[in-house]
Amino acid sequence: MAPQREHWASRFGFVLAAAGSAIGLGNLWRFPYKCGEYGGGAFLAAYLVSVAILGLPVLIAEIIIGRSAQKNPVGAFRELRASRFWPLVGWLGILAGFIILSYYSVVGGWILHYIASTVLSGFQAGLAAGQFHELMSSPARQIGCHGLFMLLTIFIVRGGISSGIERWNKLLMPALFLILIGLTIRSLISPGAGHALRFLLQPDFSQLTRTGILEALGSAFFSLSLGMGAMLTYGSYLDKNTNISSAALEISALDTCFSVMAGLMIFPIVFSCGLDPGAGPGLLFVTLPEVFAQMPGGRMCGFFFFVLVAFAAITSAISLLEVVVSFFIDELCWTRRRADYTLGAVIFVCGIPSALSFNLWSGLTLMGGKNIFDLLDGFASNILLPLGGLGIAIFAGWVLTHGEKEAEIKRVENAFHFYDIWHILIKYITPVALVIVLLYTTGIIGLLSKYF
Ligand code: TRP
Repeated sequence: MAPQREHWASRFGFVLAAAGSAIGLGNLWRFPYKCGEYGGGAFLAAYLVSVAILGLPVLIAEIIIGRSAQKNPVGAFRELRASRFWPLVGWLGILAGFIILSYYSVVGGWILHYIASTVLSGFQAGLAAGQFHELMSSPARQIGCHGLFMLLTIFIVRGGISSGIERWNKLLMPALFLILIGLTIRSLISPGAGHALRFLLQPDFSQLTRTGILEALGSAFFSLSLGMGAMLTYGSYLDKNTNISSAALEISALDTCFSVMAGLMIFPIVFSCGLDPGAGPGLLFVTLPEVFAQMPGGRMCGFFFFVLVAFAAITSAISLLEVVVSFFIDELCWTRRRADYTLGAVIFVCGIPSALSFNLWSGLTLMGGKNIFDLLDGFASNILLPLGGLGIAIFAGWVLTHGEKEAEIKRVENAFHFYDIWHILIKYITPVALVIVLLYTTGIIGLLSKYF
């Protein structure tokens, strides 16, 4: 008989671990720079709508599927329906996990580099852009830091998750939250605050392009860790008495809160320092050192801040690696140790092209002038995650019976007043929206419009 599946120690532990997976570089680094690139407030509005009508329903669906099957993404679909097709959705998730972690770890490496810089030299006002450029243009530093970040991730996943990471999460996520509030307040009293608030909170919808809407949706999926079975896997460790809908609501509220705060923290500084909000992936890494350079005690504060961001990144990275590892353990009977080392090494190697795409291979651009890093990010978050989300939505909306869903979601008395609304969303609205998104991101609509 298979050993009893591990479970989270408490509901709080689950919400925290899921929030730990969700909250990461997607909120603190990716969201602000995409928001700056695609028009500020209008992007934020599109992001919030995406979280509400696409993110939350898919999050609930993933947890339902995971908890009822008690398996990894591939095994879960196989367990619930005997069909060759559905496990493919799980496979897609495994692929997405590989790709995302490969470049996520490169950015994680930048954070580690920044921690080292605060210790060794501190930040000087006006020099941040140059320092960032120096890091970007050094292949050795890029690969070294990427390797270090991967090693840390491998080390944690090797030891299992529950006792270590769950405990650290409880301590460090609230600390990150507090520091973020402090920095946001500091930002909001800077001279650029008015401009930033207008930029973020007064949406100018004429700025919102089609690409902007698609990117907002991609960001929502990415920051909630959806579409690749990460939340499904975490849901499979959830005990049967936890109310899924309220937990999902809390997870998405926490996650969104971090994204909005990251925006409120970064944009006032961007405008105060006359920087360009559309500067791309370097945004966080150039603006924050400017603040730390100017503020009293900035070096110390910068050190704590980057340590906490590194932590947020690691709790997300382990969830990415854990999905891939748990699949190899469950389905191919590998030991945890073997899966962890082998897959970690493979992902490290896959990340090298991303690390080189800012220096040696920066000339290598494909499809619309994107470098390898942007290409992988775009492919994973604009195609693979929505595709996975579509599979999950159709499975939850059309394949699972009401009885099966209600057995999970209405388990706890009075648990879900919004079942009908959720069901309409997951059955009709979410799939239709995701199909439209995919038609655009795969270029099919562009192609069709040429002929019709
Ligand atoms: N959500 C994380 C972040 O915001 C990244 C992440 C972790 C992720 N697991 C995922 C993204 C699964 C997509 C799918 O940084």
